[in-house]
Amino acid sequence: MTGAGDYDSHSEYQRRVASAGTGLVEEAAPRLPPPASDATFVIVDYGASTGRNSLAVMRAAISAVRSRNAGQPVVAVHNDVPTNDWNQLFANLTSDTDSYLHLEGPAAVPVASAVSFFEPAMPTGSVHVGMSFSAVHWLRSQPSVVVPDGFYFCEAAPAERAVLAAQADADWTAFLAARAADLTKGGRLVVQMVGSQPGAGGQAPDVTARKLLRAMNDLARDLVAAGRLDADVCARYILPVYARTPGEAREPFERAGSPVAGCFTVDRISADPVDNPYLTQWRKDGDAQAYGAAYAGFVRAFTESNLREHLFTPGARGGEDPGKLLDEYFDRLTARFAANPLEDVFEDWTLTVAVTRR
Ligand SMILES: C[S@@+](CC[C@H](N)C(=O)[O-])C[C@H]1O[C@@H](n2cnc3c(N)ncnc32)[C@H](O)[C@@H]1O
Repeated sequence: MTGAGDYDSHSEYQRRVASAGTGLVEEAAPRLPPPASDATFVIVDYGASTGRNSLAVMRAAISAVRSRNAGQPVVAVHNDVPTNDWNQLFANLTSDTDSYLHLEGPAAVPVASAVSFFEPAMPTGSVHVGMSFSAVHWLRSQPSVVVPDGFYFCEAAPAERAVLAAQADADWTAFLAARAADLTKGGRLVVQMVGSQPGAGGQAPDVTARKLLRAMNDLARDLVAAGRLDADVCARYILPVYARTPGEAREPFERAGSPVAGCFTVDRISADPVDNPYLTQWRKDGDAQAYGAAYAGFVRAFTESNLREHLFTPGARGGEDPGKLLDEYFDRLTARFAANPLEDVFEDWTLTVAVTRR
């Protein structure tokens, strides 16, 4: 993610996703077996980034717990990788009006868990509510398969697609196994990530961000054709995101021999569309330039670091500065979105998984 508050300013979409999960997290908290009144209630946000988009969800869950016991001690844990912008997270916690730090009652203590969510991120059996938004679709490592005609898993030929599906399944299983370790018996987990909706009647599935990734691939090919980006690096580049179907999300819970078989009761798995805030705004004001800038800003905030490392730094040709080429690429993307707002529209089928630890 981009840092220094940039991600916060360009993640209205992710805020909507987290907001859509508020009800599930809020209802999970009071349905737990009540911790003893002096025991600490522990809530964790996995892949929290700067926390801005999930602070309101955390506050709602803590309020729900406190409505049952006003004095319940609470620890609120923000998990992300060690290189996360932790300074911005704690600044947001202090300044944001949605922050749980402003709740009445004894302070809910903020804590950072700076480890990968593919490993246990808290002491065994200590977590009452876990949640995660817009994070678990990121693959653990950059895929090594070649998808010559696209930047996204769904453009791969069958053999490569199967490799990517297996990688995504292994990652999802590892994430769930780590949460099985973290959660206490009866603890709840709500995960939202980009998803795919199987097509009805044999039609192609709806895949979150498919049109966007096609546009991004087109523009990169233009740079290749102009001799400014290496053709081989471009052919090998793939965004390390996998949009699971509800069926793929369910598999690790049911497969014989899975490390999480029998660990959870599945309460809900579904893929549901989430409205596009940039398109809604354009429909209201007709300002295509503003739409292009907002859409490209949103895309840059979550793709820039991966594109820089795996496409533009190794791929820039003719002595061009990779950073400047990246800037030009996003300028071109902005112009393309503004020229025809409906053509490459971002479509989102958010996958929701809600489970209870047995
Ligand atoms: C698109 S951001 C979403 C942030 C936030 N949850 C939201 O809703 O806006 C994805 C976050 O997941 C984090 N992430 C990715 N892989 C991770 C891992 N293995 N362990 C912990 N966090 C991870 C990234 O560092 C990033 O902050």
